[in-house]
Amino acid sequence: MYLTKDEERIYSGEYGEVVEKAIKIIVKVGEALGASRLVQVSHVHISGVSYFNIGDEGLELLRDLRDKGARVQVYTTANPYSLAGLGLYKEKEITEKQLEIIKILTDIGVEPQSFTCIPYKLRKPGLGEHLAWAESSAVIYANSVIGAKTNREGGLIALMAAIIGRTYYAGMHLDSERVARITIIPTFEIDSILMASLLGLYIGRISKTIPYIKAKFKVQNNIALDIMIRNMLASIASTSDIPLAVIDGITPEGTYSVEEEERIDIDRKDIEEHIHYCNSDTLLLGCPHIEPHELQYILDHSNMRTLMNYGIKRILVTMPKISLNAEVNEIIQKIKEKFKISVEIFPGACAVVSNLSMLGFSVIATPHGKALHYLPSLAGVKACPINV
Ligand code: F3S
Repeated sequence: MYLTKDEERIYSGEYGEVVEKAIKIIVKVGEALGASRLVQVSHVHISGVSYFNIGDEGLELLRDLRDKGARVQVYTTANPYSLAGLGLYKEKEITEKQLEIIKILTDIGVEPQSFTCIPYKLRKPGLGEHLAWAESSAVIYANSVIGAKTNREGGLIALMAAIIGRTYYAGMHLDSERVARITIIPTFEIDSILMASLLGLYIGRISKTIPYIKAKFKVQNNIALDIMIRNMLASIASTSDIPLAVIDGITPEGTYSVEEEERIDIDRKDIEEHIHYCNSDTLLLGCPHIEPHELQYILDHSNMRTLMNYGIKRILVTMPKISLNAEVNEIIQKIKEKFKISVEIFPGACAVVSNLSMLGFSVIATPHGKALHYLPSLAGVKACPINV
């Protein structure tokens, strides 16, 4: 692989052990993928923040990097932490270890206000900007909606990219790879978060390659459109490893090409076959994270009577730390007073990467496809689809 003079110096260890190790890992991955060189990135997003996911080995690795002087070279954000970061578990050790992970990440330069899976709301990348992101739902959103360029990195690779401010120039960084070969046409209108999610989960299951989606969204405004697209994309990324889905009318022109090899129509009944309704008194909102105005939109448009009939007594909401404001408190109060449903906000956290069974939950209702897909395996609870 071609390296610049400066990169060669990093590679030969002139700037210390940590950056040397980081560049060697990135070069190795890049060589395996046929990259001819490295590319500078302007924003890195790290995953693997939950103690439940990375465990003691992950924590040990982070400690070691920090102690050896690791420091991010570019603007770096991180994924949400587990609910242990908010002190919700009675086990002291879990809380302490989760807090230590957060502290190490901020010590090495991660933006302390981040800890969200919608980093593009903190800093929106530009068209064609090179990134190294490691949250599948954010990666597919950055490529498909913003027109930025990022591969779907593993948490460790993203961290190494942050330490050298570069990643390998392959995959989604190359226009020649951003080609959709399968055209997907839903024959129905997508009119809810649940429908967008179920469609996304289905597309992920049937697509072996980048899809070109010609879908009709039935929405009242851009807030609704953005939430539905975010959920459809996050769902595609849950049932596949696809980093880009070209959406007709949404994906910026010039950031992709279409060379159709296959065309598939999807009927409503195709995706409804996969719904298995069940009951829960707890509703999870915010996977991916939502902002206060989006929460307001969902609650305004959801039929609260339906939620009450469904037996929902508690709504758990995960959102970015920076979103916690007076507006949120007002929303909570209104819902409490009017419908006797409690709304609990978990800023900077992700319920899906938290052991929810340890907190006494066994079944969670949610309209979000990514949560429906991962709650059983990661959080240890049953997930029920609900049309809010
Ligand atoms: Fe975000 Fe956690 Fe869902 S990281 S996308 S809230 S699984």
